Amino acid sequence: MTDTTSSQPAKAWSGRFSEPVSDLVKRYTASVFFDQRMARQDIRGSLAHAKMLARQGIIGAQDLADIERGMTQILGEIERGEFGWNLDDEDVHLNIEKRLTALVGDAGKRLHTGRSRNDQVATDIRLWLRDAIDQILALIGDFQKNLLDVAEANAATPMPGFTHLQVAQPVTFGHHLMAYYEMSRRDAERFADCRKRVNRLPLGSAALAGTSYPIDREFVAQELGFDEVCYNSLDAVSDRDFAIEFCAASALLMTHLSRFSEELILWMSPRVGFIDLADRFCTGSSIMPQKKNPDVPELVRGKTGRVNGSLIALLTLMKGQPLAYNKDNQEDKEPLFDTADTVIDTLRIYADMITGIRVKTDAMRDALKQGYATATDLADYLVKNGLPFRDAHEAVALAVRAADVKGCDLPQFSLDELRTAMAHVPGAAERVKDDVFAVLTVEGSLASRKHVGGTAPEQVRAAIARARSARA
Ligand code: ARG
Repeated sequence: MTDTTSSQPAKAWSGRFSEPVSDLVKRYTASVFFDQRMARQDIRGSLAHAKMLARQGIIGAQDLADIERGMTQILGEIERGEFGWNLDDEDVHLNIEKRLTALVGDAGKRLHTGRSRNDQVATDIRLWLRDAIDQILALIGDFQKNLLDVAEANAATPMPGFTHLQVAQPVTFGHHLMAYYEMSRRDAERFADCRKRVNRLPLGSAALAGTSYPIDREFVAQELGFDEVCYNSLDAVSDRDFAIEFCAASALLMTHLSRFSEELILWMSPRVGFIDLADRFCTGSSIMPQKKNPDVPELVRGKTGRVNGSLIALLTLMKGQPLAYNKDNQEDKEPLFDTADTVIDTLRIYADMITGIRVKTDAMRDALKQGYATATDLADYLVKNGLPFRDAHEAVALAVRAADVKGCDLPQFSLDELRTAMAHVPGAAERVKDDVFAVLTVEGSLASRKHVGGTAPEQVRAAIARARSARA
């Protein structure tokens, strides 16, 4: 092994240039301070590439052994925090390659044979993103497991369902939570689907046109666990649609959690008082001693903005780029990393936070008494007794108006009062019998919605069971 570091030009391409770049340009064009996060993936990719080069006789067996030894040392240095990252070497790829050459000499210089940073960086991002997706999928699983537990405990807990934030019809709290389960199920599907397109190998595309060496791309794909190779070299080094897709899936996941957060915040307001959150997810005020603020859900709602922003950043980054690689693409990493970090932290915190929801069942039930939540049940009752739906709707609207005047809820009417209230709609009053009160109760209303996807407690339990067996 020869140490040829000193004879190396200052930059990987510097023989072509007559003057160095300014410090400002150096800093402006460098990515090492953020792309060093991909160091492990970069080393993994390089090792697979080197192994392939040796198998194909493009480099020698000793070169491969030297590269492997050097990379083991470099990995250790990185893990121990001893690696000297250097702005002069622009990015993670050149930093590692330079250190490798310092450690093992010419073998280090041979590593880049048949490769370009363009296919190298695309490979690193895909390896990095694949790990992030796997982590996100596992975390969605944890979130779902806890959500199902809370939903099950509340499969029959009545609360008002809202439309327009006005009391609409009774639902169970478990049913309400299961709505978020369904959203998370689609989120997981989207990440799993995105993973298929992430998991294709760009390496071998070199700068843009491929390479004249007798490379074996399938071997490298297999070594790195890719499902297949990218089939067009120009496309492979330039498109970042897989990253955009990931950000889109993330934006949707965050949007769902942002909606959930909005509800938690609202439910925790003393004016609603449906739930309380465990103290460990709330903070106080520096001035108002009585305050307990739902900071965590508020921040989830807030952080959704930056994830949405990253999606737009990447879409905008891509839209004007001619084929093939352009330096614009270096800007893909920070939004991508930030998105993954935000989603991972948010899922972790959320899975824990929902286990700390304390449900205030009395407040939920009280709220149901305030908005004529069973009005639709009364209309359906009339329809089942032969009144056309539009007439039933009108009859119940009159009953609600009368209840408003009297200041009571529908079940508090006597049979006579109910009939009188509907008198203006021909055929309505005589269709109301004593059994009407059974449908006006919250439990009656809930139990009647017993089809698949309905809020009847038995259906909520069935939905939870279905979810559990799908996850098993
Ligand atoms: N740091 C670069 C990036 O993140 C690596 C690829 C550089 N390629 C080039 N032709 N300058 O995209």
